Amino acid sequence: EASKAWGGRFASATDGRVERFTESISFDQRLFGHDIRGSIAHARMLAKVGLLTVEECRQIERGLLEIRAEIEAGTFRFLLEREDVHMNIEAALIERLGDVGRKLHTARSRNDQVATDLKLWTRDALDRIGERLVALQAAFVAGAERHREVIIPGYTHLQRAQPVLAAHDFLAHAEKLERDRSRVADCRKRLNVLPLGAAALAGTSLPIDRHEVARELEFDDVAANSLDVSSDRDFALESVFVLAMIAEHLAGWAEQWILWSTQEFGFLALPDAICTGSSIMPQKKNPDVLELIRGRVARVIGSLTTLMVLVKGLPLAYNRDLQEDKEPLFDAFDTVEACLELAAVVVDGARLRGDRIAERIEEGFLDATTLMEHLIERGVPQRTAHAVIGRLVGLCERKGLTRLADLTDADLAEADPALGTGARDRLGVANAVKAFRSYGSTAPAEVDRQIGRWKERLGL
Ligand code: ARG
Repeated sequence: EASKAWGGRFASATDGRVERFTESISFDQRLFGHDIRGSIAHARMLAKVGLLTVEECRQIERGLLEIRAEIEAGTFRFLLEREDVHMNIEAALIERLGDVGRKLHTARSRNDQVATDLKLWTRDALDRIGERLVALQAAFVAGAERHREVIIPGYTHLQRAQPVLAAHDFLAHAEKLERDRSRVADCRKRLNVLPLGAAALAGTSLPIDRHEVARELEFDDVAANSLDVSSDRDFALESVFVLAMIAEHLAGWAEQWILWSTQEFGFLALPDAICTGSSIMPQKKNPDVLELIRGRVARVIGSLTTLMVLVKGLPLAYNRDLQEDKEPLFDAFDTVEACLELAAVVVDGARLRGDRIAERIEEGFLDATTLMEHLIERGVPQRTAHAVIGRLVGLCERKGLTRLADLTDADLAEADPALGTGARDRLGVANAVKAFRSYGSTAPAEVDRQIGRWKERLGL
């Protein structure tokens, strides 16, 4: 069946059901730009080593650029019978150039071609994720500055624990995203090794120059083992893990802000533009964007799981199973890119309700730990100090008082003589926050320093 690239050895046409079952053009056509970039680099190298004439290379390059323009303009017709993006583009080139087009696939296989395309695509996608991470970090830093004066309860076990500056909370998210950025950079570094030239699995007897192609395509190195190349999807798995980690970070943040925007917390006001209403309850305003960001982590973990299971137990070298790598990879990138974009929109638009937060900030004995530390500074052993303050909290509850500051001087002095002097300066959340001083703490000076560090680092 002459219309197939492999037609020479086949006596009958491919069953239509097989064509529909094995095609990947429906989802790999988005690789067209990277496929053409790779093919041009390959053709230039073939010309350099004498496998193409300069004129043949020129024709091929021009033909590929025309095809790219047609795809971009939406006038190119991808054919399912041509299976995938690589063969659609090559067949269109052959239609235009005849025998010259038939030379492009010299010393190349779809196995090293698809690995190259996918790496080029993933590299660009990682770069876009990196930029979106920076934009979201910048939004958190701006939020930290905007809410610099707000004190919120810090939680453990979702129970009130110690007071923190809201800015400290915003910057905690920037830190997580910073680790994500470093994972993206790391992943890109390991990815950036050229597959092309491994041919089908064993390399080629033709005199190609892979280092030349690597330079042209901006790879840092050339893959050293051709068998490894066509089976390697580490870069796809690693990228999707990095994306899953980002999605986890976003989901944790989204969950917290969903809670903050409830009537019960009342900490956060979200602008109408990013909320949706109810079709039956007129008063409703729901944080759907945050909920979907939280929900979409499921898709990304799903993609990661798909890829992990997909490559499990595959023998060297290429196996067609690997065609299944694309949809989860693309979906994970699309999903996380969209989540990062919308997360920045939410952070930009959200406002903490400082007055509402302040109304109940003195509930929950948030100053108990710093009061204990005041005792420790006066020489009381930590375990003893802990018990003293614990008893004071118990006393408040028995007396129906909500704050340690409501206790009398006599109550304090009786609990421990060391509480007689200076203890009042530690009571109340504002005093408690002021008392912090360790590196990385919520101490106001420390938080200001961190804001400055972030602005410098992000070039704000
Ligand atoms: N569409 C295939 C894929 O995505 C291209 C490689 C096909 N190679 C082969 N030997 N059938 O993996």
